[in-house]
Amino acid sequence: MMEQDMQEILFTREEVTARIRDLAAQITRDYQGKSPAVIGILRGSFIFMADLVRELNLPLTLDFMSASSYGSGTVSSGLVDIKLDTSEPITGRDVLLVEDILDTGNTLSKLVAELKKRNPASIKLCVLLDKPDRRTQPIQADYVGFQIPDAFVVGCGLDFDQRYRQLPYIGVLKPEIYE
Ligand code: XMP
Ligand code: MG
Repeated sequence: MMEQDMQEILFTREEVTARIRDLAAQITRDYQGKSPAVIGILRGSFIFMADLVRELNLPLTLDFMSASSYGSGTVSSGLVDIKLDTSEPITGRDVLLVEDILDTGNTLSKLVAELKKRNPASIKLCVLLDKPDRRTQPIQADYVGFQIPDAFVVGCGLDFDQRYRQLPYIGVLKPEIYE
């Protein structure tokens, strides 16, 4: 499916599924006795979030936020807007923020700073992908699916101009598609 637009497939569907299962086992152990508020950042996290929570054996609640920093291009603007806020308060909750990718860290460092003001009991970050080479903010994720090199990737929720989110694998887009 749309494989002709990919330069390379970094992680197959099977590899992604297996890694999410391992992450979920670790999170389930770490949150024993707790009831985390799992908050997905829309839209990129929706597939990862759905796969992850179905493997978590915890009495959790689910919520969503949406923020934007990218517009339709591939270069971060450095500006973050909260477009949709959580439906439930997070005061006193153990928040697990779920995002597709940690790149420069602009989006997540601003969101984490905002959520901390609401006095959660704890806040941790879980990302499917981590691109550490591009980090400009002092932030790291507590749970990382895969570290990736500095390439523009799509699939498993990640888009280019709202396309390719549904791909069941993580692929590097051919540069001619976005240049
Ligand atoms: P920052 O730079 O704020 O960016 O950490 C996080 C957001 O940028 C998007 N992003 C990507 N989206 N392929 C994508 O489809 C990528 O390789 C990529 N790198 C960053 C993503 O929306 C993330 O939430
Ligand atoms: Mg995103």
